[in-house]
Amino acid sequence: MILYFSGTGNSLAIARSIAQGIGDEIKPLVEAVRQDLTNEKRIGLVYPSYDFNTPPAVRNIVPRLKISNEAYVFIVIPCGAQAGNSIWTVRRLLREKGVEVSYAHKIRVPDNSALVFGRNPNDQKWKFEKFAGRLERIIADVKAEKKAFHYSTWSFLGWIMGQPKMEAKLLGAFRPAVREDKCIGCGTCAKICPMRNIAVNEREEAVAGQSETVAHVGPHCTACLACVHACPKQALEVGGKPTIKERQYRHPQVKLAELLLRK
Ligand SMILES: Cc1cc2nc3c(=O)[nH]c(=O)nc-3n(C[C@H](O)[C@H](O)[C@H](O)COP(=O)(O)O)c2cc1C
Repeated sequence: MILYFSGTGNSLAIARSIAQGIGDEIKPLVEAVRQDLTNEKRIGLVYPSYDFNTPPAVRNIVPRLKISNEAYVFIVIPCGAQAGNSIWTVRRLLREKGVEVSYAHKIRVPDNSALVFGRNPNDQKWKFEKFAGRLERIIADVKAEKKAFHYSTWSFLGWIMGQPKMEAKLLGAFRPAVREDKCIGCGTCAKICPMRNIAVNEREEAVAGQSETVAHVGPHCTACLACVHACPKQALEVGGKPTIKERQYRHPQVKLAELLLRK
């Protein structure tokens, strides 16, 4: 079983390719937390790196996973450039449960946070050129149940960035705000949010020419940017900067419907 956490599809696409290669299934990590996975002989975890570390949502779920300490466990990190401590944090959390990670690998993919800095993640699709070779190697390694850690040294910078106050500040900067004048209340953001942190409610005051409902972002954001990239009206913004349609990103082989966690 391969468990993935994905805001914009990179992790989903990679989890799916590996699953096809090794003959396994995939499941969103947020759903796996409710299941007994102790009969699974192989567990893969595919999730992005956030600020040189593990997304808070992943860090909160991993200790609650019901997996066997005899399973072969591997991690793959699709990241813009640096996986930082995203592997090591989860390895430590699993070790505290008596589960050992045997294999880890990072893969460079378009950086979905580029949009926040005014760059276009879609300009980084050249990274996919090296992608296929990396995936082949990972699939062969996982099939052979290899023990190895590739491209993932422990990072002091990652440790600093992962300190609670620092992390809250850094990831807080990615928290989206709703432009109520642009929002059409379609609920795509609410359906894609892995934290169930977005609700669509009636507008407090009716505005002529605008939808009756509008999205509201709650306090439990994990900074995945799924809502910002998926909004059909670019109504979710980060850092007070307008979201530009051409910079919204989703892995080319992943459909929006596949990322929606709620129908
Ligand atoms: C808040 C945030 C922080 C990020 N920090 C890093 C980072 O430190 N290093 C890196 O290489 N990529 C970083 N990224 C890029 C993501 O790891 C990368 O785009 C990943 O493939 C996204 O996966 P997804 O499409 O499955 O959501 C960051 C992305 C976000 C949203």
